[in-house]
Amino acid sequence: MAASWSLAAPGVWRVTLQEMQEAKGMTPLTYMNVQPREAALKQMPEVQPPFDWDQVRIEEIRDGLLVSFPLTPSEKLYGTGLQLMRMNQRGRTRYLRVNSDPKQDTGETHAPVPFYASDRGYGVLIDTSRIVTMHCGSTLELADTRAEHVRDRNTNAGWSATPLAARTELRLPKDGFDIYVFGGPSLTDVVARYNLFCGGGVLPPKWGLGFWHRVPTLYTDEQVLEEAEQFRQRGIPCDVIGLEPGWHSQSYPVSYEWEANRFPSPGTFVQQLRAKGMRVNLWEHPYVSPTSKIYEKLRPYAGSHTVWGGLAPDYAMEEAAAQYKQVHETEHVSLGVSGYKLDECDGSELTRNSWMFPAHAKFPSGLDGEQMRQLYGLMFQKMTSDLYRSKNRRTYGLVRASGAAASTMPYVLYSDLYDHKQYIRALCNASFSGLLWTPEVRRAVSAEDWVRRMQTVCLSSLAMLNAWGDGTKPWSYPEVESIVRHYIELRMRLLPYLYTAFAAYRETGVPPFRAMPLVMSPAEIAAAEGHLAEFEQEVLNTTDAAYGKKTTREWDDQYMLGEFLLVAPLVAGETERDVLLPGGVWYGLETGERYEGGQIVRISAVLEIMPIFVRSGAVIPMMPSMPHVPEPGSPVPLTFVHFGEESGEGTLYDDDGETFAYEEGASHWWRAQVTRRPDGSYAGELLGNDQVVPESFSTIAWQFAQTRLPR
Ligand code: GAL
Repeated sequence: MAASWSLAAPGVWRVTLQEMQEAKGMTPLTYMNVQPREAALKQMPEVQPPFDWDQVRIEEIRDGLLVSFPLTPSEKLYGTGLQLMRMNQRGRTRYLRVNSDPKQDTGETHAPVPFYASDRGYGVLIDTSRIVTMHCGSTLELADTRAEHVRDRNTNAGWSATPLAARTELRLPKDGFDIYVFGGPSLTDVVARYNLFCGGGVLPPKWGLGFWHRVPTLYTDEQVLEEAEQFRQRGIPCDVIGLEPGWHSQSYPVSYEWEANRFPSPGTFVQQLRAKGMRVNLWEHPYVSPTSKIYEKLRPYAGSHTVWGGLAPDYAMEEAAAQYKQVHETEHVSLGVSGYKLDECDGSELTRNSWMFPAHAKFPSGLDGEQMRQLYGLMFQKMTSDLYRSKNRRTYGLVRASGAAASTMPYVLYSDLYDHKQYIRALCNASFSGLLWTPEVRRAVSAEDWVRRMQTVCLSSLAMLNAWGDGTKPWSYPEVESIVRHYIELRMRLLPYLYTAFAAYRETGVPPFRAMPLVMSPAEIAAAEGHLAEFEQEVLNTTDAAYGKKTTREWDDQYMLGEFLLVAPLVAGETERDVLLPGGVWYGLETGERYEGGQIVRISAVLEIMPIFVRSGAVIPMMPSMPHVPEPGSPVPLTFVHFGEESGEGTLYDDDGETFAYEEGASHWWRAQVTRRPDGSYAGELLGNDQVVPESFSTIAWQFAQTRLPR
């Protein structure tokens, strides 16, 4: 099929199939109205297309098209959305359908993103609202099959059905899509380009990076206030209280109106929490109750099927979106509610029979159930974030479904599944697809499990205890309360660093939390693992389905937070683990132990310690722990903590933390430079802005040559 590739943005190419243009309809990129960050893209390295375009094949099949890209034998493929089961998708078929219960490794997920990024330094995105099947090197055509690769299962148990694949094969719907190819040169550049093309990364409000607590369902205003007060009494930081089902006058389906017995005076309630320095986040799901004020207004825009007897509105229709925004504005946003948890927009009729409209549902805009489902999560994110933007207030919240082009959205994914290792892997995998993820804590099987989960969540995009069903509190295991408090406080102390990492995400597209392949090149990883020679000779790709068993580790259980911190969580039952350390010298952030990087180190840690490593030469901006994130106009002391013996440099970003004034230039970057003088003493200097002291901070102090974090 004739395809012509054209440059869509610096280092980004698009193919347009003329035959399909009219059929394309609404896609994630068109719905999100993405505005590529051209200036930032232009600053990236210049790249050539990763392949000759005639190596990309596009052919018609019965019910759609097959697009296929060449693969090298050792290439690894990352992304495809929020995958819980594996990090390297090479050798797997990914059926990218939204699913609320992704218990099997089929590719179905809360957030299907038809985007993969190769460690050879390019990426492929399919922009469509249809389900895409990506064969990520799990198929092999006869023409590419080499007899010498074929083995005998009688004698070779490790042998599986697909020898080393020569191509990816992507099965696409007939009714239109765009294909994009992103250049590198590095894998990080590919991901950054994808994020920048979609508008850049999100910058949450500062308070969103504090600690969150969701109270049980059916709590009353008094119960909430009483629980909030306990945080203050116990000195456990908390910025956001989340309300679960029970605050709506009806839920399942929802009314969007307050329940008058539990919340007789919602405005006062929100103000009372605010007076304690806490914000309110509201749970909701997509289906509109017949008792809701907007039911009749939304009815003309509803889909053909109901869920829980509620309407499934067609938010591709402007009129429906306007109704939704209006009820949210008058009932919540105008009272000071800070944001939402957009639940259950990922239901799938196969695993939870009645929780979603069927794929054959019809919607007034012309979308069908399949498309609406793939787009629904994006729609709720966009409608609510547009609403907050119209008030010049930033929001931050939770969503259970997402898709392509979501990097600008102030939303973090979560799940009802609860495997701690999968939660850590999801944190890594989110970084390849422009997504954020919280490994939320709900309950635990032991105090140890409780601590390990709390440690992980405190070093993630959204630090939250979700007690909706269990009624847990950070102090639920009294014997470890002080450890939990310590990690919640550590998160607060790291706020200036964390916020700076998000600001970099917004401006450069490099995610704040990143999986190891975004930190080390394939050669660096191979060298650290001790098999650089095999790597250089392209000896077999040990993770390809061809060889069945996995002989290399994927390092899907550790990640970087910003430039300087490497987080290697432990889960209950573990007291030691291997850690892949990038080159250079590293210190245990809380142990002060010194490690030579560029290798795998075996570490052990008591329950009081989460294995976190800091790069020697790092300069990390920190603040004191506080009951909640400081408001604009309440400056706090800032300390730059420098690690190791050599000179070093860090960055600091600051703005008002709450509005969009940063988009108009009301934001600043500094370089924090530490110099080691010939006599061995150190000097610290803040460079890059005329203002001496960043507005959010009252004083600036330096701590030089640390090997561990001062208490
Ligand atoms: C689930 C959600 C939980 C909780 C619950 C309330 O769908 O994942 O976190 O909000 O609904 O019914």
